[in-house]
Amino acid sequence: MKVVTTLEELWEARQALPNPLGFVPTMGYLHDGHLSLVRCAKRDNASVAVSIFVNPTQFGPNEDLESYPRDLARDLAMLEAEGVDLVWTPTAEVMYPPGSQTWVEVEKITKVLEGARRPGHFRGVTTVVAKLFNGVQPQRAYFGQKDAQQARVIQRMAQDLTYPIEIVVCPIRREPDGLAMSSRNTYLNPAERQAATVLYRALSAAKAAFQAGERDANALRKIMEDTINAEPLARLQYVSCADPDTLEEIHGKAEKALLSMAVYVGKTRLIDNMLLGTGKETF
Ligand code: PAJ
Repeated sequence: MKVVTTLEELWEARQALPNPLGFVPTMGYLHDGHLSLVRCAKRDNASVAVSIFVNPTQFGPNEDLESYPRDLARDLAMLEAEGVDLVWTPTAEVMYPPGSQTWVEVEKITKVLEGARRPGHFRGVTTVVAKLFNGVQPQRAYFGQKDAQQARVIQRMAQDLTYPIEIVVCPIRREPDGLAMSSRNTYLNPAERQAATVLYRALSAAKAAFQAGERDANALRKIMEDTINAEPLARLQYVSCADPDTLEEIHGKAEKALLSMAVYVGKTRLIDNMLLGTGKETF
């Protein structure tokens, strides 16, 4: 497994790898969710590249950039064990050379849900992912349904900028009790970790109602809200029942929907989602 930092090293290592190449962008502190993307990429491609970069431009001024967990040695050992060919660990200077003033911005679908609560977040994500794509030149790139809006935004960006890259979205990996795996779960103390199952419980309650015939978007949102509000350690930021394509909130009947939410458990902000009525687990 080759580990590179500069663009020159990356270009040389990339040239030596067989196509198709599958690419998994990450911010590190890897868990089984990340590794499931690596495994999908291994299955579909002749070679696999992973990037590890905690991208400062996608964090808001009051977010957790400084405290975001990092353990490069552990990450590299995990990727080596998966048979990854190339790992790119750029520095901030490589990704944002001094004097940088170019951004990639997807307009409409970044304004709702996470984008409405984290202004500038998706501008940071699309800018860095565009640069990562330009550097790695993959044939396929792998994203998790865990960050459903991010996956939609990247699909839109890849189409709009005519990247010749297939965007593959992989299912959410969960802990045995339903909590979606996330690098941020390490922030939770034992009581909070227990309370954090409330996101999956809320989504599952709404899904059960949907399967029993409930189609009213307000009623589905209310079921999720009530479940979250019953958990003393949880504070709801938003729940959504949205069109899976446009991500616009549904008013009236939901024949298919993306249920999603952001919930503070203690100081930790967690997100989760579930697709209903599309016959698929992912976009
Ligand atoms: P990060 O949070 O490290 O996630 C990297 C990828 O892993 C994303 O596509 C994310 O959706 C996926 N992922 C995370 N948890 C998952 C889970 N439980 N199941 C399945 N997939 C999961 O997302 C980012 O980094 C950044 O925004 C990035 C795209 C790298 C740009 O900086």
